[in-house]
This record gives sequence, structure tokens and C-alpha cells, in this order.
Amino acid sequence: MTAQIDGPGVVEPATLRDVLGHFASGVVVVTAAGPDGPLGFTCQSFASLSLDPPLVSFAPSRTSSTWPRIRDVGAFCVNVLAADQQHLSAGFARSGVDKFAGVGWQPGPHRAPVLDGACAWIGCTLWHEYDGGDHTIVAGRVRDLAADASRTPLLFHRGRYGLATGAEEDR
Ligand SMILES: Cc1cc2nc3c(=O)[nH]c(=O)nc-3n(C[C@H](O)[C@H](O)[C@H](O)COP(=O)(O)O)c2cc1C
Repeated sequence: MTAQIDGPGVVEPATLRDVLGHFASGVVVVTAAGPDGPLGFTCQSFASLSLDPPLVSFAPSRTSSTWPRIRDVGAFCVNVLAADQQHLSAGFARSGVDKFAGVGWQPGPHRAPVLDGACAWIGCTLWHEYDGGDHTIVAGRVRDLAADASRTPLLFHRGRYGLATGAEEDR
């Protein structure tokens, strides 16, 4: 494996995205009960953070129009998407539309939407937010959670859903 050096300390955004894309992850939708209706956005930067206290983290972009509204609510639900929910991932990634049109969900903790068919959900209250460059790093304190072991998770790898194999071009 050859290192892609773009010069001392200079990392081209395309190289960063390409190499970091080799880290395969699941996909979540962070939801909340906003004052004017349900809120949600797709997120890949989700991770478990701490066992005691029970914390998880994710990183919303500073350009997100949904995260500031969820922040104001102060409580949210992280929905881990299942392999057959690629359409939800795409739908909740579109800005400025009614993301919940035609989406099945039940009110969870703090009335935050729990999406029908998700692999797992994690109900949280906002713990803290940290500077993350062009994103912020959110820590959520886990208050309630559940999983459905019969569901297979949706994966995201090298810019596409599922596991990219071999040398096929990255998107
Ligand atoms: C697979 C996938 C993963 C994403 N991961 C993130 C992420 O980790 N952080 C983020 O801010 N946006 C992420 N996005 C983009 C947001 O979902 C999108 O910018 C956001 O939903 C825009 O809507 P908003 O303006 O309502 O916030 C991801 C999109 C997709 C399709």
C-alpha cells in the first residue's frame, strides 16, 4: 500500500475522503420531536463513546440546517438503519424537504421518532458539544435503547452502500 503524500502536511480533500472512505460504517438517522413536527438527518459519524456515563457521539456538519433545531430540543433518538433501508438514508440526507413523508415511525423517548424497521434505537439527551472543525462533535447521554437482532445493518463503504470489493472505483 503506497502512501498518498500530497506534500508536507498537505492533505487534499479528495485524498482524505478516498482514504477515510475505506473505514466501513453503519448508517444512522438522528431524530427528534421538534416544536413544528418531527426532525431528522442521516449520519455516518456515529460511535459509542463511554460506558459510564453511557455516552454516544456523532458529528453534524456546521452547514446542517436540522442539527441546530435538534440541539434546541435537547433530546434525540439515534436510529440504526437496516440493510433494506437505503431509501431512508437517502431521504433523510435531503435538505429542505418533508423528510418524514411516507415514513413509518413511533414516538420514542422524549417523543423522538423511532423509525419502523430500524436495527436499533438509542434515546439520548444532549450531554455536550465540542469543536470539530467544519463539523461539531456531539456527545449524547443514553437514556433508553433497544435492538432487533433479526435485522441486518445497512453499511456504507467507499462512498457507497454495502461493502465495496476489490479495486472498483470509489464514488
Ligand atoms: C450515508 C450518509 C452519511 C452521512 N453522514 C453525515 C454525517 O456524519 N454528518 C453530517 O453532518 N451529515 C452527514 N450526511 C449528510 C446529511 O445527512 C445531510 O447533509 C443533511 O441531512 C442535510 O439536511 P439538513 O440541512 O436538513 O441538515 C450523510 C449523508 C449520507 C447519505
